[in-house]
Amino acid sequence: MGVNAEVFLYDEKFPPEPKTLMMFYKRLREVDVPEMMASIIAETPDKPWEYYRDMTRQLWDEARHAMMGEVGFVNLGIDWPKQVMINFTWSLALNTQLKPIERHAVLYFIEQGLMPKNGKRFEWEVGLASHNPLSALFQDYDWADEVLHARVGRDWYLKNFEDPKKAVQYGDHCWSRVLMNWAKWREEGLTQHRNWWPDTYREACKHWGVEPDPQVAAYSTTYEQVRADLKTISASG
Ligand SMILES: [Fe+2]
Ligand SMILES: [Fe+2]
Ligand SMILES: [Fe+2]
Repeated sequence: MGVNAEVFLYDEKFPPEPKTLMMFYKRLREVDVPEMMASIIAETPDKPWEYYRDMTRQLWDEARHAMMGEVGFVNLGIDWPKQVMINFTWSLALNTQLKPIERHAVLYFIEQGLMPKNGKRFEWEVGLASHNPLSALFQDYDWADEVLHARVGRDWYLKNFEDPKKAVQYGDHCWSRVLMNWAKWREEGLTQHRNWWPDTYREACKHWGVEPDPQVAAYSTTYEQVRADLKTISASG
């Protein structure tokens, strides 16, 4: 959690081209979602068949979004397993600290937050502005799928509540109960929270045939202070 994608993505001083790298990273990181959805599905018995069908469709979408991120990096000649650091701490924390319905609440809370103008539409517009056709195409798919996921959330999570506002608040509450100890993981030697951004960006610049922009290369904001969801800026959607 050494590179904060959202702070970079929403900073107007940065151009769209390097932002496509941050979006590929965000897509790649979506592989954390199937990791927490699989446990919701497996640990929620006695639902109608349609529940398992919809939830499994969504699980597969999330895995596919991660593959779009992978393809984005490969297309730029970036050795992503070496250069781009992702982890599974979000799903690990959710799987070990929350009950299935609480996990679904967090998922709903995050996904319904992806729909405003500064969510998936913004990412798609950055993709278009970057002139990286893959980025625009991927964001188009990502947006469309997340619209469907919001519907899946309405059908299978929201209906447990009489008041939709309470359903959102419950998700927010469950999310804020999850302990993600950024500093402790580093102290225990589990991670370095390495800033992989400058090397990855320089690698992409080589592919683009441009000189790295020193201001972009110097970016070094981590997730130590900012929770990675839309409450502050954006979500891990
Ligand atoms: Fe997505
Ligand atoms: Fe989703
Ligand atoms: Fe997603």
